[in-house]
Amino acid sequence: AKFAIVDKDTCIACGACGATASSIFQYDDEGLAYVAVDENKGVCPIPEDWEEDVEDAFLGCPSDSIKMLDKPFNGDPLKYD
Ligand code: F3S
Repeated sequence: AKFAIVDKDTCIACGACGATASSIFQYDDEGLAYVAVDENKGVCPIPEDWEEDVEDAFLGCPSDSIKMLDKPFNGDPLKYD
C-alpha cells in the first residue's frame, strides 16, 4: 500500500495535484493542498485505483511538497526526511 501526505509549509498552492488526482487532493481556504482520504495524516492507504495518479502528482509537484511512501506518515510530512 502507498501512503501520501502534503507538506503544507512548502505547498505553493499551484493546483497541479488536484488536477492530476482530483479524488485524492483537495484544497483548503488558502488553496493549500491536503490528502482528502485521511485529512492529510498520511495514515490511510491510497486506494489502488488512484495510486498511479497520486504517483504522477508526487512527481509533478513543483515544490516537492507531496510525500509518498509505502509506510504511513502519522501526520508528519517530514517523518522520513
Ligand atoms: Fe501544492 Fe504541490 Fe499540489 S505545490 S497544490 S502540493 S502540486
